[in-house]
Amino acid sequence: MATPIRILAFAGSLRRDSWNKKVLKIAVEGALAAGAEVTVLDLKDLPMPVYDGDIETAEGVPAKAKEFKALMKSHDAFLIASPEYNSSIPGGLKNAIDWASRQEPDEKPLACFKDKVAALVSASPGALGGVRSLMAIRLILSNLMVLVIPEQVSVMKVHEALDDQGVLKDERRAQSLRNVGARLVAVTQALARVKG
Ligand SMILES: Cc1cc2nc3c(=O)[nH]c(=O)nc-3n(C[C@H](O)[C@H](O)[C@H](O)COP(=O)(O)O)c2cc1C
Repeated sequence: MATPIRILAFAGSLRRDSWNKKVLKIAVEGALAAGAEVTVLDLKDLPMPVYDGDIETAEGVPAKAKEFKALMKSHDAFLIASPEYNSSIPGGLKNAIDWASRQEPDEKPLACFKDKVAALVSASPGALGGVRSLMAIRLILSNLMVLVIPEQVSVMKVHEALDDQGVLKDERRAQSLRNVGARLVAVTQALARVKG
């Protein structure tokens, strides 16, 4: 049997009760059902300083950023659920990506990103569901050589859409989130076959 696809799933929000962390879980269900192994990461567990070239010059890439990089490298694909902050990517997520993009002496360029696949979902109490963050994240990851699949879902008015247990009241919406997770697995598997 082929080795299962390994997916690193994380939210762009650090907040403990994040809506995006709840929505991420639903997309993860789809990836698991499609046969993937999924590691759910909370970026809150990897606090990193704001990227500063002086820190990098003096001390190198910080330990928590190195942990994030190692996780990215050991997985085939990323499943990301993110809110939008002021119409774009949240600073914490951008910061983690910025650190991960820094090449260390023992690494090839973009070692955390090249040949990886990603899928994006978002949630917001607002009417746009955070979709504008996905436009920004798609652009950033694409420029880092990640293949970002076209399927994406934004859950608008998420505070009304989810019940107290984190279940989406609209089952069709839940299924569309699961489909994103499943599609990520299918595309990553297809790419793995092409790479041999
Ligand atoms: C700094 C900041 C900026 C925000 N900007 C937007 C925005 O542009 N669009 C939007 O829909 N919600 C915006 N929000 C509201 C977030 O969507 C809301 O706080 C959401 O719950 C954050 O996601 P989370 O629940 O996963 O933490 C903003 C929140 C913060 C803290």
